[in-house]
Amino acid sequence: FDKYEYEHDLLEWYDREKRDLPWRRERDPYRIWVSEIMLQQTKVDTVIPYYERFMSQFPTVDALADADEEQVLKAWEGLGYYSRARNLHAAVKEVQSAYGGVVPNSEEEIHKLRGVGPYTAGAILSIAYNIPAPAVDGNVMRVLSRIFAIYDDIAKPATRKRFETIIREIISTSRASDYNQALMELGAMICTPTKPACLLCPVQAHCQAREQGVQELLPVKAKK
Ligand code: ADE
Repeated sequence: FDKYEYEHDLLEWYDREKRDLPWRRERDPYRIWVSEIMLQQTKVDTVIPYYERFMSQFPTVDALADADEEQVLKAWEGLGYYSRARNLHAAVKEVQSAYGGVVPNSEEEIHKLRGVGPYTAGAILSIAYNIPAPAVDGNVMRVLSRIFAIYDDIAKPATRKRFETIIREIISTSRASDYNQALMELGAMICTPTKPACLLCPVQAHCQAREQGVQELLPVKAKK
């Protein structure tokens, strides 16, 4: 496995094929944060109009921090999982009061924010600040389990940690933002749960699951 060839193939594909999504035109960590919270349990197509409306209504940390919870929940109406909105609102208030409105750019500080788990922390640090931190969600675990033919149960917390370690070793140090987004994009567009489009995959030459013909057996998710 040549991580530089793999990185090159992945990023070249991403540059060429990436979808034009509203949060991809942004580098504002607050805006990236909102998009990642919305995308956690909701599909991209559903999120887009909510994201656009939320951003016109609450364009900055201060605008959201100063809003009433009622207004925030109203803007979230239809997205579901309202604890996401409550946690986001509380955490943004914290950013306003404790960090002068600037979203922290260190793993240590960003983890302290309410509702910001390892995935969201890594997504904000990498996408907004271009810091080479892992952002491992279900999509990324699927992609990596196939590339490295890893049969660990993705329902186990230790498995996510293993993938985080792998990402830390292979992530682009200069293009961390694009690298993580390219993995997400690959998982969404090519390396799908069933019938992955391996023939169109930019990193098929680097994929052990494809070499072994086991792509549809991965990832392993033990039944409860
Ligand atoms: N899913 C989670 N984060 C995403 C992002 N930044 N772009 C597209 N899909 C996503």
